[in-house]
Amino acid sequence: MNVLHVIANPRPAETSSSKKLALEFFMTLTEKNPDVIVNNVDLYQNKPPFVTAEALNYFWGAVADPAYIPSKAEETAANYSNNNAQALVDADVLVLTLPVWLNSMPSILKAWLDQVIVPGKVFNMTPEGAIPIHHLRTVVLLVSSDEIYKEGDVLDGLTPDIRAIFGFIGVDDIQIAWADGQNTIRHFDSVERFDLAAEAAREIAEEVAEMA
Ligand SMILES: Cc1cc2nc3c(=O)[nH]c(=O)nc-3n(C[C@H](O)[C@H](O)[C@H](O)COP(=O)(O)O)c2cc1C
Repeated sequence: MNVLHVIANPRPAETSSSKKLALEFFMTLTEKNPDVIVNNVDLYQNKPPFVTAEALNYFWGAVADPAYIPSKAEETAANYSNNNAQALVDADVLVLTLPVWLNSMPSILKAWLDQVIVPGKVFNMTPEGAIPIHHLRTVVLLVSSDEIYKEGDVLDGLTPDIRAIFGFIGVDDIQIAWADGQNTIRHFDSVERFDLAAEAAREIAEEVAEMA
């Protein structure tokens, strides 16, 4: 089983709650299933560019016109996508490690999604809608936030977005371990909240380890 781990957090593991959740998750996963293959992608080490007009032509040109042939400039604009989308196509499970920023995902993660979830690579566009051409089954979110809120709260702009993006390509199984209330000055129970999220991360890892 292939697990793609995408890290969208610039902070070092020693001071990052979401990266500590990732440590708990992957320790459990590899202990329960030593055969799992983990591909770690740190977006701050390999930064996705913003999509340009040339890249859009490359991604969507063949959808509009099957005879479309990309120009050299359009091909170059799609370099990041061409070099990085395959990792998602190869994955059975995608793990996203991230903090909540402005009630949503860090923009570097959105930039990566814009580059890799493109037609012809991850889905085919038909008159009936998007048809998946990947075998991703589950997306796991390992999240941290200062405020006390989780999925379903009016302030949560993260999980509706993630559910909509992956629902579009046919993935509805979204598992979440969320360490909220991580601001230790304002929340006396930050440690307990982290421990609960770590337990959730380990439980999700056990379920993923059992996936065939
Ligand atoms: C730019 C920025 C925006 C943030 N926005 C929010 C927010 O909207 N809601 C929240 O609860 N915490 C917010 N935070 C706090 C982080 O989510 C929190 O510190 C989290 O624990 C960081 O994760 P990490 O420890 O894994 O780096 C923000 C932090 C930064 C730097």
